[in-house]
Amino acid sequence: MAPVQIAELTIERWPDVLSLMGRTHGICVREADSAERVAAYLRRNPGMSFVALHEGRVVGCAMCGHDGRRGYLNHVLVDAAHRRAGIATALVTRCLDRLEEQGILKCHLDVLATNEVGKAFWAGRGWKRRDDVQKFSFIRSDNPNA
Ligand SMILES: CC(C)(COP(=O)(O)OP(=O)(O)OC[C@H]1O[C@@H](n2cnc3c(N)ncnc32)[C@H](O)[C@@H]1OP(=O)(O)O)[C@@H](O)C(=O)NCCC(=O)NCCS
Repeated sequence: MAPVQIAELTIERWPDVLSLMGRTHGICVREADSAERVAAYLRRNPGMSFVALHEGRVVGCAMCGHDGRRGYLNHVLVDAAHRRAGIATALVTRCLDRLEEQGILKCHLDVLATNEVGKAFWAGRGWKRRDDVQKFSFIRSDNPNA
């Protein structure tokens, strides 16, 4: 199989990521995943999000940003045909490297409680599951999928 390359996620590649999200079980596409919102995210967090490319096709993604104190990962996913080959690990390592370059050593992410594969991946990579915090969210919109 041809090698997989890691490249920066640019807005031009977003439609391919959306299509990968659409065919990945357990991933929800929200209004916040519009090209406009993602372009704003990438402008705020330049050079911190990555895709994996196989023969020019997007087969993985990891989006990363920070608020000046803590890092956050979103949309870490790999095409089913390319899993268990270290792609997610490589993408996340790039993100953590970029955070560390900016002095940020702690990173958070959300995993659906029902996502057993996701939980196994993060636990296997040394991420600590938090049982001491509960997430609260507030939606200032009538759209529950905002
Ligand atoms: C979770 C996901 C991103 C992992 O991608 P990946 O490229 O297969 O991960 P890696 O190959 O880097 O896995 C590294 C390690 O994570 C653990 N791991 C990964 N997938 C696992 C699984 N299905 N079951 C158990 N452990 C798993 C293993 O320790 C693995 O190392 P090993 O293959 O040497 O045993 C991928 O399965 C995926 O896209 N799932 C659907 C979307 C999703 O749930 N994303 C996470 C949202 S928080």
